[in-house]
Amino acid sequence: MKIRDATRRDLPGIVEIERLAFDNPWSLDSFVRELSLPFSRMIVASQSADGEERLAGFLCRWLVTDECHILNVAVHPGMRRKGIAERMMTNALAEAKARKALVISLEVRRSNVAARSLYRKFDFEERRLRKNYYGPGEDAIVMERKLE
Ligand SMILES: CC(C)(COP(=O)(O)OP(=O)(O)OC[C@H]1O[C@@H](n2cnc3c(N)ncnc32)[C@H](O)[C@@H]1OP(=O)(O)O)[C@@H](O)C(=O)NCCC(=O)NCCS
Repeated sequence: MKIRDATRRDLPGIVEIERLAFDNPWSLDSFVRELSLPFSRMIVASQSADGEERLAGFLCRWLVTDECHILNVAVHPGMRRKGIAERMMTNALAEAKARKALVISLEVRRSNVAARSLYRKFDFEERRLRKNYYGPGEDAIVMERKLE
């Protein structure tokens, strides 16, 4: 399993994982835009088998002044619980620290037990609730971790 920066060639694989992961997935255009933004970075987790590379997951973050914000992270359903999200989060945190970010933040659905557990494992703290952020009855929890 390799973690590397995403390129345009990864977009079909990223969009496929996105569609499998979310009820309201980002469009292809949204990902194209992310690749063009100077403060945005997308990484992918990829696996090589029989000379072919397959995407297992991706993570998208913004780095603006001293704050890193994780916008999106997803792992292919057939590849979950193998530590892939953990690998991508480790990469994102290390990069944020190296770039002198002071805080790393994100929003997560209150109902998303797996993601909340993942972020808690990385010492993110649940800071505030944004009521109905994802639609009626779908609250978001804002999570943050300070970086040294
Ligand atoms: C959340 C998600 C990215 C986790 O990916 P993953 O590669 O399966 O996660 P990992 O194997 O790296 O697991 C790391 C930690 O996450 C937590 N976790 C992952 N899946 C979990 C689950 N189904 N239930 C509870 N905790 C879970 C655990 O704390 C786990 O650590 P552990 O294995 O020591 O218990 C994946 O489930 C996913 O793509 N979900 C759909 C998209 C999504 O919700 N993204 C987050 C949006 S905020």
